[in-house]
Amino acid sequence: MIATSTHNAPAPMEGRGAYNRNSRVQAAGFAAAIPYFKEAARVCSLAAAPAPIAIADYGASEGHNSLVPMAAAIAVLRQRVGAERAISVVHTDLPDSDFNALFLTLANDPESYARGNAAVFPSAVGRSFYDQILPSESVTLGWTSWAVQWLSRIPEPIPDHVQVACSSDSAARTAYEAQADADWRTFLTHRAHELRAGGQLVVLTMALTDDGDFGYRAVLAAMYGALIDLVAEGKLSDAELIRMAIPTVGRGRAQLLAPFGANRHFAGLSIKQLDIFLGEDRIWEQYEQDRDAAAYGARWAAFSRASVFPTMALALDDAKNAVRVSAFLDDTEVRMAARLAGHPEPCAIPLARLRLSKESR
Ligand SMILES: C[S@@+](CC[C@H](N)C(=O)[O-])C[C@H]1O[C@@H](n2cnc3c(N)ncnc32)[C@H](O)[C@@H]1O
Repeated sequence: MIATSTHNAPAPMEGRGAYNRNSRVQAAGFAAAIPYFKEAARVCSLAAAPAPIAIADYGASEGHNSLVPMAAAIAVLRQRVGAERAISVVHTDLPDSDFNALFLTLANDPESYARGNAAVFPSAVGRSFYDQILPSESVTLGWTSWAVQWLSRIPEPIPDHVQVACSSDSAARTAYEAQADADWRTFLTHRAHELRAGGQLVVLTMALTDDGDFGYRAVLAAMYGALIDLVAEGKLSDAELIRMAIPTVGRGRAQLLAPFGANRHFAGLSIKQLDIFLGEDRIWEQYEQDRDAAAYGARWAAFSRASVFPTMALALDDAKNAVRVSAFLDDTEVRMAARLAGHPEPCAIPLARLRLSKESR
């Protein structure tokens, strides 16, 4: 789906299967959070039968990357409750996400936990996770992967880049820090309402290393370089470039812990596990095997296109013109791929994984 959101909020991922096909970096990252999710499924408190067990998946996109974590949690729950107990799985995303692709993935993907599993009931909600989107005390297990780094809005223009972590503009950096803190508290507060007492939430998100590094250095340089190329070629105006921003943040340990205070409690949630780590760079690993620099550049450019270009395209003067948007996506992707192919290098991918528990009353 081509972006239709208003300009100061992010667009969903590129639709029609593009995100599913170009999210191998995310797949490597979320795998590290699956042990946390299995542990959450093992220790969460369950309502008495026959009440269904509800799993919520926040920021599911087209669903492929949700299949393995959902299957892992369901397998652990099945050991506890047997094969007959109803389990509902609610996949959520922004209203203009490609939910058709999500439902097709659930129906047809060979890895789908939903195929041939009569006691599992998938569904979807199209609503921002910066609101409460499920009934209070209804969720037993929550999962969110690669989603809460997206802010609710662009708080301030970034005059010298599209990613605030690469900007030297202090007003932009300050505004993003404040927005990131407010959004994290809002996200946690709503999830705390939705979780049952004794329910658990696992979060995998982009992070900052303990040295404050956001990572993706070469990828972001190539992306901004591609946009500068487009301005030089007259395909993008200066004003469009200045408006362009990707409202994502990496949160470091301090930012993630900030709402919780010394006792690690916030809004009825407590932190059980927190770890900052470097995700596997599967695109670099592939390059080490095939030494194909063009494919290396193309893979990072396709990853960026599927996940962040639709949001950048919202800054175009004619952001609702599908022909212009499509040309912008193609032009940026080609130039970014060419720049990266010139200098392949590994990429730091800082990630955080957290397991949180809703306190029992
Ligand atoms: C990079 S994708 C992650 C998809 C999948 N969970 C994974 O691990 O690959 C991020 C998803 O978060 C969604 N998202 C961003 N902001 C959101 C919000 N405020 N509410 C709900 N979903 C949001 C995006 O639309 C997108 O589908």
